[in-house]
Amino acid sequence: MEHFKNKVIYQLYPKSFKDSDGDGIGDLKGIIEKLPYLHQLGIEMIWMNPIFVSPQKDNGYDITDYCSIDPLFGTMEELEELIQKAKQLNIELMFDMVLNHTSITHEWFQKALKGDKKYQDYYILRPAKEDGSLPTNWQSKFGGDAWEPFGDTENYYLHLYDVSQADLNWRNPDVRQELYKVVNFWLEKGITGFRFDVLNVIGKEEVLVDSLGENEKSLYTDTPIVHEYVKELNQESFGKKEGMITVGEMSSTTVENGILYSNPDRKELSMIFSFHHLKVDYDEGEKWSDIPFDFLELKQILNEWQTGMSDGNGWNALFWNNHDQPRANSRFGDPIKYPYETATMLAQSIHLLRGTPYIYQGEEIGMTNPDYSEIDEYVDIETHNAYKSMRLNGVPHEKAMKIIKEKSRDNSRTPMQWDGSSHAGFTTGTPWLNVAGNYQEINVEKELSDGKVFPYYQKLIKLRKKMPVISDGDYQGILLDDPEVFAYIREKDNQKLLVLNHFYGTEYSFQLPKEINDIDAEHLIGNYPDIKLEKEMKLRPYETVAFLLK
Ligand code: NOJ
Repeated sequence: MEHFKNKVIYQLYPKSFKDSDGDGIGDLKGIIEKLPYLHQLGIEMIWMNPIFVSPQKDNGYDITDYCSIDPLFGTMEELEELIQKAKQLNIELMFDMVLNHTSITHEWFQKALKGDKKYQDYYILRPAKEDGSLPTNWQSKFGGDAWEPFGDTENYYLHLYDVSQADLNWRNPDVRQELYKVVNFWLEKGITGFRFDVLNVIGKEEVLVDSLGENEKSLYTDTPIVHEYVKELNQESFGKKEGMITVGEMSSTTVENGILYSNPDRKELSMIFSFHHLKVDYDEGEKWSDIPFDFLELKQILNEWQTGMSDGNGWNALFWNNHDQPRANSRFGDPIKYPYETATMLAQSIHLLRGTPYIYQGEEIGMTNPDYSEIDEYVDIETHNAYKSMRLNGVPHEKAMKIIKEKSRDNSRTPMQWDGSSHAGFTTGTPWLNVAGNYQEINVEKELSDGKVFPYYQKLIKLRKKMPVISDGDYQGILLDDPEVFAYIREKDNQKLLVLNHFYGTEYSFQLPKEINDIDAEHLIGNYPDIKLEKEMKLRPYETVAFLLK
């Protein structure tokens, strides 16, 4: 069994985790201070969002210098201390590598702007079309055109994300070598995991063409050359070391590509993030919309990925939350009436699946979306672009705000709620983003003294560690058409685990499939007392339960 299969990874958003010096921004010293807390949870690796020098237009995903720590977060010495202190607690660090683009403040881009031909070939520069229109009709993922004039030349540069994030030209072998050097630099510092940002869009063709109404993303996503680049990246950097853990963020990918990226025989990555299950509340693919989530579609996607990746020996990262998503408790459950049940049901539903679970900071204490009322309370660039574009398209302010409250990335970026003191104990200064209003009810101090969510996460992490049926068992989806329950069986070496997750806030009865007739089933873990395996099961609001079948 691969070494990463029985581990759980914790995602920490450095800007919002813990501020040690009162400037309102989380920092490395703050993380060091809280390592014992993470150790207590039981996680074995921390993925940190980028902490490199950056103008912070996109919160660090716009990098000026890949090999220096932004003074906002601390110093190289503090990072070294963090690596070493984490190691003492059996925790490793995963760094976030943004290799698709740099900030336009990066030295390479600046040299290119000054006319240096070598560095001009580091980026994707193209002239306007003959009719004077942009090189292609592509749209930036953050809204607007994907091309911006390149200084006062005739050319434009491509930016699939913000205008301050220029896409790198991976076709140029010098660019690739520079980027491998960056990964090796951090490897040598003792970083043993890498999360690669939007890795499946690095392979742009030489000749870029307009999208003709078809899915535009397919013109630059998962192109065959990406797999060659990922293999090379593996060979030239992390593949040379034993025990590394790597995960590729794969935007709009497919199961087929997921297998290619993560099947160990191909020597690309350990696993991938895919996002289809987090688009089930998009209206016809539109994120900035306001519709209830489609539960049957959610189940169908999870089942398709579990089955497909298992058949092709690929490996999934399992997650509901990250820094780009609203809080899952607010999105798929009822954190007001059923905070404990919602949080634990969502946790269990993915922690017992086949793949590697990720916990996003605050999830382990049941943090929710904040209740901001003004657009000015949001900081995120994508949120502001979306607000402007909705208003331009005639969406009234109230409606736009309702959508933003549900979908903004800032929902998950609010400061970690440590205690009930001002700013939730995150900072003694003014936080860069407002703390959620419920920090007096939901915070670490309270949770550790009498809460039930954190201990539930501890239990799930321990179970994965000790039970191969969880970390390495096969997956089989059952009750695929059931409108309220997400159910599956895991199996390994004569051990069978049945997992039932009820996604709604009422009582619900249903029949188990005939094959499951084991009256002696052993109750393994669940979020309500007094439940037995019966032919006709009755589940309570947001109930989750797992039985070992004999
Ligand atoms: C994905 C990251 O998760 C997101 O936060 C960022 O804005 C984009 N990539 C661009 O780097």
